[in-house]
Amino acid sequence: VTNIPFLDLGAAYQELRDELDAAYHRVMKSGWFILGAEVEAFEEEFATYCNVKHCIGVGNGLDAISLLLKANDIGPGDEVIVPANTFIATWFAVSQVGAEPVPVEPDPETYNIDVERVEAAVSTRTKAIVAVHLYGQPADMSSLSEIANRHNLLLFEDAAQAHGATYFGKKTGGLSHGAAFSFYPGKNLGAFGDGGAVTTNDTNLAEKIKVLRNYGAREKYHHLIQGCNSRLDELQAAFLRVRLGILDQWNDRRKAIAARYLDSLGGSSLVLPRLLKGCDPVWHLFVVRTNNRDLLIKRLAQIGVTTQIHYPISPHMQPAYQVLNSSKDRLPISEFLQQTVLSLPIGPHLSMDGVEKVVSSIYQLLEEA
Ligand SMILES: Cc1ncc(COP(=O)(O)O)c(C=O)c1O
Repeated sequence: VTNIPFLDLGAAYQELRDELDAAYHRVMKSGWFILGAEVEAFEEEFATYCNVKHCIGVGNGLDAISLLLKANDIGPGDEVIVPANTFIATWFAVSQVGAEPVPVEPDPETYNIDVERVEAAVSTRTKAIVAVHLYGQPADMSSLSEIANRHNLLLFEDAAQAHGATYFGKKTGGLSHGAAFSFYPGKNLGAFGDGGAVTTNDTNLAEKIKVLRNYGAREKYHHLIQGCNSRLDELQAAFLRVRLGILDQWNDRRKAIAARYLDSLGGSSLVLPRLLKGCDPVWHLFVVRTNNRDLLIKRLAQIGVTTQIHYPISPHMQPAYQVLNSSKDRLPISEFLQQTVLSLPIGPHLSMDGVEKVVSSIYQLLEEA
């Protein structure tokens, strides 16, 4: 019987075991755990990787987004345009600074924000757009920056799912005023705990976020502003330096799997993701659409293939955003996606044999259906 996990994090450790263990011992022996040499080195290395001037390590991806907004004085009374189809963190970051998330429907084929619908959502209170490179595919950043320029809005990236993806040859993280990354363990660049980062070319913004993440202090016990505590720790930074060294290689493995899926599932009834011109996605997720979802999930699980749904409930339908629930037909495309999307297994440790197994099982099950 097959065992194809959705993502194999144990295998990620095994492949890098010696280097990760060495990183662990290096930090433990140093006796220094918060804001030290490892974080500084990782910040420099990740900034270089993203081809930006600054990287600031923070506690997690959610904080990375909210710190970007806060550092740009976005708060109560302001509106921020967000994708309707995203992980809820994008919305929470806006709500947490006291601003209002204004959702815009996705393009049903790329799953990313539909740029044709963005301008209709701009009001006199709109301050920014947070683009999300969902599932690892960059959003249509040139259209978004045109709109942002036209209406004098700030443009940010939520790059939590897109470490290493490029848009017309330029890396995500450097495609806007500032970008947020998550290093949650399952991400393409994942830590072994929580972690996140902000990248930007704006030196003032970088300085402000550095102060905000550390109790509003540049110097211990001298608090310039009311900041928070959101710091990447030394241990996670040391692990991330190891993972960064192999990121491109592991992204290439994901790309090969995605290419195989795209190639071999073309003859099935599944709707496959469409790639936007100029995008080189890193396939954090491989998301298809199907009307036979429940059956596929159940039958695949029976033969040992784990799938997931990203996301089963759109943010506007969540109890956390009850206020918006009254107008349930407001975001029909997102709701249609939430009912039909299915994420197939993908990751650097999924073998091509495993991929073939998933593909042949899908054909067989769809035929039965
Ligand atoms: C699109 C997106 N934004 C933000 C986040 C938040 O990151 P974190 O879990 O590190 O807070 C995640 C992942 O969890 C995500 O997928």
